[in-house]
Amino acid sequence: MDDIRVAVVGLGPRALGTWIPLLQRIPGFRITALCDPIKALHERALAQLTTQEDVTTYERYGDVLAADDVDAVALTVRSEHQGGMAADALEAGKHVHAEVPAAHSIEDCWRIVDAVERTGLTYQLAEQTRFWGFVDAWRDLVAQGRLGHVTYAEGQYFHYHLGGMFQDPRTGTLLGPDRLGEYPDAKPTWVQRMPPIHYLPHELSPLLKVLDDRVVEVVGMGTGQPSKANPDVAQPDLQVALMRTAKGTVMRLAASFANPHPDGSWHWYQVLGTNGRVEWNRGLRDKPRMWLADGQMHDLAEVDWRYERTDAPREARGSGHGDADFYTHVAFRDAVLDGRQPAFDVYRAMDTAAPAILAAKSIAQGSVPLAVPDFQRHKENP
Ligand SMILES: NC(=O)c1ccc[n+]([C@@H]2O[C@H](COP(=O)([O-])OP(=O)(O)OC[C@H]3O[C@@H](n4cnc5c(N)ncnc54)[C@H](O)[C@@H]3O)[C@@H](O)[C@H]2O)c1
Repeated sequence: MDDIRVAVVGLGPRALGTWIPLLQRIPGFRITALCDPIKALHERALAQLTTQEDVTTYERYGDVLAADDVDAVALTVRSEHQGGMAADALEAGKHVHAEVPAAHSIEDCWRIVDAVERTGLTYQLAEQTRFWGFVDAWRDLVAQGRLGHVTYAEGQYFHYHLGGMFQDPRTGTLLGPDRLGEYPDAKPTWVQRMPPIHYLPHELSPLLKVLDDRVVEVVGMGTGQPSKANPDVAQPDLQVALMRTAKGTVMRLAASFANPHPDGSWHWYQVLGTNGRVEWNRGLRDKPRMWLADGQMHDLAEVDWRYERTDAPREARGSGHGDADFYTHVAFRDAVLDGRQPAFDVYRAMDTAAPAILAAKSIAQGSVPLAVPDFQRHKENP
């Protein structure tokens, strides 16, 4: 295979703003199909292509899966069915590079695992924050024992995202509650219908990489709906989960889309061990910090850790999210061309999706603790 022939499925801002430009910039990919049920979005996507030759547009996903000139599906949909759609593609013989979160039900997590095991096709979750520079620095500190035994870790994703809460079905225009008068037919999108705690991939994926661990138990809690900050939004302002890992770390994870929050500082992380602590910056003008109990340090010290890697290749620069969007596409391409699974394999991907799904289930059941399936054990014994 020279180039991987890709169908981009779901033509919203993520596909148009990042995936289509990157798939044309990174060698090894050729876009042969575009798909979205909203036909008005086809023109916008086609206009992004340097060549429209041999590119077919589809409204129905099933037709993409039947197409002979598609080797891989780039799944950039926002849908409760996205996990099932990934499994459908694998079962139809297509490799899958899927946007986060991987799935919205435990059944779909297992369907994806089963499909990869049965077909041997490549599945990559496009979770890119795990490639950030500071994530590798923190992982090394933990692996070298500099922080001691990690007792506690925190991650939160607070993204005030009102502008993606509704969509006009005819034009595909995304809008917030302030524009409902202008678009009376607009419908709530999955951003609004999704339990916010489902959106933890950018927190769980890097933290589990730092800890080299998996979540075994989860309990959730949340504010009620509708949002108190925005009563037109039928979503809780905030949901929180406590998680216990296999190595004995307690984690607090939180997510919010409807509660006002400063723009741009969406992520926050902290890792606390018996011998020290690292934490991410609280705001855009703040700096990350570190303290080591055996380091003759009387207070936390600022460290210039960044999202951007110091060893980033030139091609990664400006690809999005602190250069990280580049790495997931390259990892997917190399895995497909080598006929193998990526380092961030399907089991690790489901380790980031399942605890979030179960946190929402815990909230729905009155905050009962729930056990998380052991995908890693399945890897040893498919
Ligand atoms: N990794 C990141 O940093 C990052 C950033 C933004 C968004 N995302 C993810 O990217 C995805 C897309 O985000 P977005 O903001 O563009 O979403 P969006 O809702 O604006 O657009 C998604 C598009 O998918 C289409 N779609 C829905 N169901 C479909 C189906 N069955 N077949 C084909 N198309 C379908 C919708 O019509 C819509 O046009 C989401 O899963 C989101 O979580 C990831």
